[in-house]
Amino acid sequence: MAVTNPPPVRVELSGRSYDVQIGQGLLDDAIVQARDFIEPYAGRKVPVVADVNARKHHGERFAASLASDGYEIAWYDVAPGESSKSWESLERLTDWLLGLGITRSDHVFALGGGVVGDLVGFACSVLKRGCGFVQLPTTLLSQVDSSVGGKTAINTRAGKNLIGAFHQPSLVLADTQTLDTLPDREMRAGYAEVLKYGLLGDAEFFTWLEENGTRVLAREREALNEAVATSIRAKARIVAEDERETSGVRALLNLGHTFGHALEAETGFSDQLLHGEAVALGMVLAARYSARRGELSEADAERAATAIAGSGLPSEISELGMDCKGQRLVDHMLHDKKMESSGTLPFLLLRGLGEAYMARDVDLADVAAFLDEELK
Ligand code: GLY
Repeated sequence: MAVTNPPPVRVELSGRSYDVQIGQGLLDDAIVQARDFIEPYAGRKVPVVADVNARKHHGERFAASLASDGYEIAWYDVAPGESSKSWESLERLTDWLLGLGITRSDHVFALGGGVVGDLVGFACSVLKRGCGFVQLPTTLLSQVDSSVGGKTAINTRAGKNLIGAFHQPSLVLADTQTLDTLPDREMRAGYAEVLKYGLLGDAEFFTWLEENGTRVLAREREALNEAVATSIRAKARIVAEDERETSGVRALLNLGHTFGHALEAETGFSDQLLHGEAVALGMVLAARYSARRGELSEADAERAATAIAGSGLPSEISELGMDCKGQRLVDHMLHDKKMESSGTLPFLLLRGLGEAYMARDVDLADVAAFLDEELK
């Protein structure tokens, strides 16, 4: 049975609203979906910055769609991995774009996961004081999170994403067919961010995921499109309400990220623990810590842990083989971007499944004691 693609999601931002198209085969139809941003390249090549693996798997479909209307691509390859989000990569990429004569009204295409999206988005935020870009996310994590909402950044020696800008794309084409070639581990890591939308604000979606998560992870088209579309709708609503993370609403998207960031730092931001895996563990810890504060029932905290473990994601920090104390993880938290000058670290906790809130009264010594228990 043919599966109909979900309707596009509009990210409503005054004067800068844009669509996120979701569904199977969108790259095959790119010339139609992205015509407004391709037509200005008549007589010139269309600049596409691509993760080398994304280009290998999906570049041909995109190129064929453009070729059907006579457009050629100027490809720029980006090596996979966080090391591509560097000052050096930014310099090389902006030099290349300037060499192509990109103008402020042009759009650069980003094909790949979060690394490419963040690098291209940031490059376009500064190129000639800002040109346009179109996101073509090819990982689950980038489709449901990083390609939508305009956070762009590179890493520095001092930490991840410390240099960046809010710069919204003009269009996002989330072709869920690209997920067919995504390694299972990366699929699960992206799925952690899908579960996050249920846990932070949509109990009904969380229950749906408990029942349908296996179908989503198996990439059954209907379930996958539904999970991606529901996640993107949630993200679009939050971004429209608090684009620059000033009112506290967008900060809810950081559920699991404070604990998760400490775990990523302790494991050296390496393949030992992918970002999504750290977020999964971080959400279990946030749920259990909420239960410790008496704000969430133990049963609900374990329901969250079971949903995470049941999707093949890590859920117990005691199983990571980390030889460290809770205080050491808290020390990593002190370097978190969210740390305030007053010495307060806001924590995203749960009052219920589907009800995250920001707590500003968390005692870090108590967090260290809690983590000591979890590490046993
Ligand atoms: N990934 C969190 C945000 O976009 O705000």
